[in-house]
Amino acid sequence: MNRYPDHLYIHWPFCSFKCHYCDFVAFEQHSEYQTSYHHALLKEIAGFAQQLPPQHPIKTIFLGGGTPSLYPLEWITELFATLRKHFSFQEIQEITIETNPADIDEEKLERWHEIGITRLSIGVQSLNDDVLLKLNRRQRASDVLRTMRIAPKYFDNISVDLILGLPGVTTEEWLATIQLAVTWPIKHISVYFLTIHEKTPLYFKVERGDVKLADDQSMVELYEKTAQMLEENGFEQYEISNFARAGHVSTHNQAYWNRRPYKGFGVGAASFDGQRRSVNTNNLTTYLTEAPHIPATQEILTPEQEQLELLMLGLRQKKGMALHRMVYFLSDCDVQSLQANIDELKSAGLIEIENDRVMLTRKGMALENEIVVRLLTL
Ligand SMILES: C[S@@+](CC[C@H](N)C(=O)[O-])C[C@H]1O[C@@H](n2cnc3c(N)ncnc32)[C@H](O)[C@@H]1O
Ligand code: SF4
Repeated sequence: MNRYPDHLYIHWPFCSFKCHYCDFVAFEQHSEYQTSYHHALLKEIAGFAQQLPPQHPIKTIFLGGGTPSLYPLEWITELFATLRKHFSFQEIQEITIETNPADIDEEKLERWHEIGITRLSIGVQSLNDDVLLKLNRRQRASDVLRTMRIAPKYFDNISVDLILGLPGVTTEEWLATIQLAVTWPIKHISVYFLTIHEKTPLYFKVERGDVKLADDQSMVELYEKTAQMLEENGFEQYEISNFARAGHVSTHNQAYWNRRPYKGFGVGAASFDGQRRSVNTNNLTTYLTEAPHIPATQEILTPEQEQLELLMLGLRQKKGMALHRMVYFLSDCDVQSLQANIDELKSAGLIEIENDRVMLTRKGMALENEIVVRLLTL
């Protein structure tokens, strides 16, 4: 297999404020480190490019964070000049930038468009200002509405992120947000279940009983209703959290789920070369001082880990996974147990089989982790 990556991820780890639910490698403010971080990124990119044939063609780039909409325009222009110097953009299909509505303006939109960015991913999360403020996310619904007015002048391919289950958002309010979102000039919607990550401020509030979360059953029902509403309005589900209008699935994300090689640059960025997974140090000081030789943890996947990944990543997607690939590594006896598990999950309405493919139903999508565990209990 060609181990050269066709997909690049670039991490900008700075945010205006740290949201209380956030577990990403993201630092509040830290403006004093930004110049050196930008230069370290350029060094890391140039150092990596030397290991590849000159002008290796890239298909997708994802500028994620953190908050890359805070990446100063002059530097982001320099970043793309460096990328173009080392890689060919002849086969490019998609260049995404993650943005927070609070810091979007026309000057930025125009410049992002000029430097070749093709897709905006907008972190909406909720339209309830009070809920967001309590989570230390200082953006307002009016920022989102303003963005929806100005962004289409520069971008055709717009996606929004929403978080299902934020404390304080009622069912009616959530459904009204979905009802409104489908009228926006957007092509893609990501709906993530709220995850409570250990040691985040929200985790401690939940532990102390200061914040009460909705129960799992009602979240599964709300997820099913959401997926149905999105599909009725032309956003087809193609992955657990992702819905797109025709022709607008995210190519970059599909590369992750289809286990294509990709390279991540920046603090805490992950890479995959087809066999090995590696993750850059998440220590900002180490990243800055060691660039371009970034310390990273590496793992070569065993056949069992590879099989588990194939199953988890395959089932996340609407197209599911081929049954013959699932049984590839199994003994006859295990194949029988797997078949029994599949029959049980099918009767429970969690999976369906079409020709050789095993696919999660809408309800199954909400319970993927449990289903994978059940399938593998042989
Ligand atoms: C890496 S974040 C970056 C985007 C940008 N910084 C923002 O927050 O809008 C990508 C998306 O992950 C989702 N997300 C972040 N933390 C989450 C959590 N604890 N549970 C569920 N979704 C989360 C949000 O929808 C967010 O837009
Ligand atoms: S803006 Fe995004 S990356 Fe930054 S703290 Fe909030 S969720 Fe995390």
